Amino acid sequence: MSVLSVRGLSIDYLTRRGPVHAVRDVSFELEKSETLAIIGESGSGKTTLAVGLIRLSPRGTKVAKGEILYTKNGMTNDIRKLDDDDLREYRWAECAMVFQAALNSFNPVITIWEQFLDTARAHGLNDRRRVHDRAAELLDLVHLDAGRVLPAFPHELSGGMKQRVLIALALMLEPQMVILDEPTTALDILTQRSIIDLLRQLRQRLGFSMIFISHDLSIAAELADRMITMYAGRVVEHARVADMFYRPRHPYSLGLLRAVPRVSGALGSVASIPGSPPDLVRLPKGCTYAARCPYAIDACREADPPLLPVDTPQHEAACIRWQHVAEVLGSDAEIPVAEKLA
Ligand SMILES: Nc1ncnc2c1ncn2[C@@H]1O[C@H](COP(=O)(O)OP(=O)(O)OP(=O)(O)O)[C@@H](O)[C@H]1O
Ligand SMILES: [Mg+2]
Repeated sequence: MSVLSVRGLSIDYLTRRGPVHAVRDVSFELEKSETLAIIGESGSGKTTLAVGLIRLSPRGTKVAKGEILYTKNGMTNDIRKLDDDDLREYRWAECAMVFQAALNSFNPVITIWEQFLDTARAHGLNDRRRVHDRAAELLDLVHLDAGRVLPAFPHELSGGMKQRVLIALALMLEPQMVILDEPTTALDILTQRSIIDLLRQLRQRLGFSMIFISHDLSIAAELADRMITMYAGRVVEHARVADMFYRPRHPYSLGLLRAVPRVSGALGSVASIPGSPPDLVRLPKGCTYAARCPYAIDACREADPPLLPVDTPQHEAACIRWQHVAEVLGSDAEIPVAEKLA
């Protein structure tokens, strides 16, 4: 059963140049205890989507259309229709988010203990003793020494420790769902690995669903059950991780895979796809990837292709050339694309 069902969601930023169509007609389901990775290069709309899901978009943002349906105990609510109180509750108790670049968002003049206390108070938990017990329990869960970390100021902790604290804070109210926006990007490779291992353990132990945003495919693949590729605000491919890695059907996913360095663990870079994404205010006619796509034909510039099943019903791509992509890759499903094509 789906915990979250996003249907036809479109989000614009209102600017002087006109609306920036940052998220366009996005639909997906998130099942209980499942991890969905959202990948795509910078500017593809990942953060806009994530922040939109908890309705924390900045001023000047307009949700043009769509539904965000959240189900708990058999009850379904549209997040877009919640009042302020219910929304506050939803944000922490149901769906917690670890924000991109949040490592710098700690208040530098208060201790980690006070950060826990503030968060707890914001949710009506005022019993210091209970908050302390809960904080210690959570820090233990993320493998930090509470005795050392709670009295510390943020600058006394390493990046990896701060990221663990943020994850612990997000879990304070036992959410059913956690959204992590690039949680490892600012960290070195070994620390990235330990955070990924931690998230895997936590998910197993606590059973929450997870939306994991990354532009690093190899990291996303380690955690995710399914993956969504976003390009210019749209979902252009949706697949189980193995299908995305071994049998991508959208040329953009293929481009991202080819850009993954072969030395495992190295920082992923998508810079090697030539060209740049389209202007999201004045979108080109047809497929928005056509201008960069090595397989584009005239028909690609006529109409933006819908997301449709390819190979299997669980695998969708928005490309009229997906069969050509399949031919280029061949039928050998045993070798990861990244290695085969490098
Ligand atoms: N407040 C804003 N006003 C206008 N445009 C914005 C605003 N925030 C983001 N955008 C634009 O919306 C698009 C999507 O941005 P978003 O931050 O969602 O991308 P992203 O996939 O998270 O990128 P990154 O990988 O760099 O974090 C980009 O073109 C961006 O320039
Ligand atoms: Mg982002």
